[in-house]
Amino acid sequence: MLSKFRAKLLSIKFRAIRRFVITVLAKIPRDLERAIIFGDTLNHFLMISPFRYFFKFKVPKDIQTNLYDLSFASPLISASFKDDVSSLLQWQLLGIGGITYKTVLKKPSKGNLRPRIQEIRYQGEYGILNSLGLPNKGVEKFKLSIPNKKLINFNRPIGVSIGGNSDKEYFEVFNSIDRYLNSVDYDQFFYEINISCPNTEDGKCLSDDLDSLKKLLEKFRNVSSRVIFVKVSPDSSVDDILSICNILSKIEKTVINVGNSKYVRASNVGLTQKTFSKEGGGLSGKYLYKNTLKMVQLISSKYSIPIVATGGVCSYEQVKQLLDNGATLTGMATLLVTDPLLIPQINQRLSNE
Ligand SMILES: Cc1cc2nc3c(=O)[nH]c(=O)nc-3n(C[C@H](O)[C@H](O)[C@H](O)COP(=O)(O)O)c2cc1C
Repeated sequence: MLSKFRAKLLSIKFRAIRRFVITVLAKIPRDLERAIIFGDTLNHFLMISPFRYFFKFKVPKDIQTNLYDLSFASPLISASFKDDVSSLLQWQLLGIGGITYKTVLKKPSKGNLRPRIQEIRYQGEYGILNSLGLPNKGVEKFKLSIPNKKLINFNRPIGVSIGGNSDKEYFEVFNSIDRYLNSVDYDQFFYEINISCPNTEDGKCLSDDLDSLKKLLEKFRNVSSRVIFVKVSPDSSVDDILSICNILSKIEKTVINVGNSKYVRASNVGLTQKTFSKEGGGLSGKYLYKNTLKMVQLISSKYSIPIVATGGVCSYEQVKQLLDNGATLTGMATLLVTDPLLIPQINQRLSNE
């Protein structure tokens, strides 16, 4: 009861501070990234101070969720979109069941030009449009940052999202990280293959070539016994998504994650060349939920592979509906930046069912 009250109070404060920071920093010129950088810096100082314990919530034991040899503290996991330790730590303290690092590529990249991330409304719903273009530190530097002791101490699964601009690059990144993780004394790592990279320049993704995807997954399986998630895009056709499920159903310890952000043209959401550097980007947030639920229902009616439901998940009712319809875990990105204090509240309600 006391912790529910604390979560609600902190949630009001968090949302008020977030809105204030955005109003002051992201408006003129319009660029949400300025507010994000400031917010991340604030959070970093919070997470190295003793005040971080205000964010610590117990996770009820009865919502622990097992998936192959992984043990998630709760069925809520963070989707792949951030790699700064302070954010990942904050969500773990709040009670997220497992975390996923932002997609790693072989070489360091700064991503696309700014402004490349904005708050928008899409069909009446709050959302985020991003065309970050996978900025990342590259695989060698990434390996230096993992494992992080603070994160590992929670003993919850940690996902590494693998990206690439070619099959060869996907394999090199996977193999390099896998070899490295084999030397680490922690067994709760898993992989997520990001086959939908809608923001890269050539526009072609692994999801456009299912034969290559199959061969690549078999190659991964030959070198590693860790759990592999495959994250698809809501832009893929239903037939393609079902074909991917068919491929996964024949490869051990695989999971389908539906899904990534959805491609939307910037001009359709009131953005101009000045407020968004690319023609379009990936939409995240509430609007995606309907499709996420539809995909979970469809896949679970045809295949018995585990499903992670990501896309638009913003409430206890939605988490419950997804789990009741066959999802094993629910992934979240937008909710974790708009109202992360909902995590302990959802965990508590899942436990009280
Ligand atoms: C700023 C931002 C960056 C993202 N970066 C990645 C990424 O690196 N890899 C990935 O697979 N998905 C990425 N995503 C997509 C999210 O993981 C998630 O699939 C998507 O936002 C839908 O979930 P949501 O509606 O809960 O936000 C990103 C999303 C956002 C908003």
